Formats: sequence, C-alpha cells, structure tokens
Amino acid sequence: MIYLDNAATSFPKPAIVHDRISEVLSTIGGNPGRSSHTMAIEAARVIFNARESVASLIGASDSGRIAFTKNATEAINTGLKGILKPGDHVVTSAFEHNSVVKSLARLASGGVEVTKVSPDKEGFLRPRDIEAAIKKNTKMVCISHASNVFGAIQHLSDIGKVCRSKNAMFMVDGAQTIGAMPFDVTAFGVDILAATGHKALFGPQGTGFLYLAEGIDVVPLVDGGTGEAGSPLEMPELLEAGTMNTPGIGGLGAGVRFLLDERVEKIREKEEGLIDAVLKGFASMKGISIIGPADASRRAALVSFNIDGKKPGEVGLRLDDEAGIMIRCGTHCAPDAHRCSGTFPDGAARVSPGYFNTAQDIEEFLKAVRAVAKG
Ligand code: ALA
Repeated sequence: MIYLDNAATSFPKPAIVHDRISEVLSTIGGNPGRSSHTMAIEAARVIFNARESVASLIGASDSGRIAFTKNATEAINTGLKGILKPGDHVVTSAFEHNSVVKSLARLASGGVEVTKVSPDKEGFLRPRDIEAAIKKNTKMVCISHASNVFGAIQHLSDIGKVCRSKNAMFMVDGAQTIGAMPFDVTAFGVDILAATGHKALFGPQGTGFLYLAEGIDVVPLVDGGTGEAGSPLEMPELLEAGTMNTPGIGGLGAGVRFLLDERVEKIREKEEGLIDAVLKGFASMKGISIIGPADASRRAALVSFNIDGKKPGEVGLRLDDEAGIMIRCGTHCAPDAHRCSGTFPDGAARVSPGYFNTAQDIEEFLKAVRAVAKG
C-alpha cells in the first residue's frame, strides 16, 4: 500500500501524536477551562501548550490570538461570516476551495459584494490584479496560500503589502501549506489565518485553528462557554464555546512539536524533492497534462494531472486496484479551481506525497501511471 493523498489528510502520523492523544485520554481526562481540580488544570495545560506551539510555527507573538476550531472550513467560515457585513466588499480568487466559495455565496445573498480575481495560467495571482480589484468599500482580501488543485504558492508578502497600502484586511487559507513550508504572519502581512490540523500539521482529523491579528474583531458563529449572557468574552475563549476536543488538540500540539523539532525547512526540502520526481516523471511520459507550475519549488506538495482519454475517477480506481496506490480524484471540493484550469466537470487525479513517503514510492507511482496510460 502506498499512501499519496496527504493533501486530503496526512498519513501516517508521527508516533508522538498517537502517544499524546492516548496520554490525554488515559491520564488527563478533565475538562479544560471548567472545573478547577488537578485534571482540569492539566487539560487546560494541554490546550495552552498546543496554542504556544502553533504560535511559534506561524510567528504569532501572542498565542491568545489563536482559537482552535474543528477544521479549516470552520475557521474560514468564522473569519468571513464573523467579519463581513452587508455593504462590505471582499476580493478573492477564482480558484478557492468551497469553504470560501460557499461562505462568500451565502454572504453575497445577504448583501456582501464579492470580486473574484483570475490567476495566470500556472495558478498565480498577480498582486496588481488584486490591487485593481480593491475599491472604497473593500474590507478584506481572502485567498488560499496554495490552491488544493493548482498547488501554486502565492506571493503572500506582495499581496499583503497591497492589502496594507489599501487598508484592507488580509485573510489566508493555509490548509495546504501551514506546517509544510515556513510561514510568518508578520512577514507576510497576514491579519487572519485559517488552517487545518490534520494535513501538514500531523494532527488528528477534527482539529484546526483561526489566527486573528491584534485588533481584528469577529462575531462568533457559535455561542456558549462560561459567564453570563451578554458578558464579554475575549479571544481565544470567544471562539471556543463548548467543551473542547482536548485529546485532538493535544495530538495537534504534538504534531506541531514534531514539525518544530524536525524543522519545517527540512520537511519542505524532502517534499519538494518528491514533487520534483513526480513532475520529471510526468514530463517523460506522453499524454499527461498537469495543472499548475512545472517547477517543484513554486508549488505545494501536490500535482493534479490528467491522462489523455481517461476519466480521473478511472485513474484513481486503477491505481488503487492494480498497484495499491491511493490518490484523490474528481473536483477536490474546489469546482471553481477546475473551472479556472479548464478541467470542470470531471476534475483531475491528484497525487500528494508527504514527509513519510520515499523516492521508491514515487517510482512505483510513476510505473503504475505509465501502465494506466498504456491500456
Ligand atoms: N480539501 C481537502 C482536499 O483537497 C480535503 O482533498
């Protein structure tokens, strides 16, 4: 079995992630932020430590500006619906994931104005196009760091500068990049960052976070938590109503510690090498088309591709059946991205290696793709 679907969810997870989840469940069973006994305090420490680890990973000076969510989708919904009001204008790209597309469609039906900026052929946004789309009532620019279909790594610091010069908030969907490459909210000028825990952060499914820079206020989508009705809650409790996923967040914190110990640069180097091997292998075959840049250094660790004459679903099934290779096919919850790349409605096959894959895995994958392309 060869797992090459890390852009959907990473597998396997480092042993310390399993160990931490098990430790939280078996020895730290309390409810964080509720009771004041020893186990509840220990549980609160699990959450605090995970928050501190995430803060160091993304360069946030105050971990209190990071709220845990159940995934990137929840974080994105909160960032958009908790900030944008009727009459506001938001600039986004034409290739976003449905978590952005559907949230903005709902907001648009309530009077928020949305402009979608198209990328170049490789999937890169031009900062000047973003600038041209910004108007007087533009409150926010919201884009993904790397699309889960194109993979192109956007020039965040240039786009961040445009946002600052136009006084617009800059929100980034980091689902495909946080943990997989160095990231710094201050250097990139990012005000709002949404990310998932179960991809490059090696956490379990059901974890994610939303970072808000100092001074960015949101209205929560979910109310509850401690205190009286109407009593003000501060970040992060404001966005963490209800008992939290303490074992999952403990696992997420362990995943981030693994990344920090291993070094994100080393992880990026390994994954870039694997993607380079995929791209070179594809370039040597006939009848393969790829979506996004042909240069591994400019893309996240994923390549969406099609084989002439084959439906993406058939490619995925045959790789699984004939070679035990797992990839993701279809429109990847991002039909707009496939419209942009001209691959809608069938979509594409997508291979996404992770840190634990080997050069041998990629060779096996390329051999299996060759066999599918032939017959
Ligand atoms: N959005 C995830 C993907 O790209 C699940 O596969």
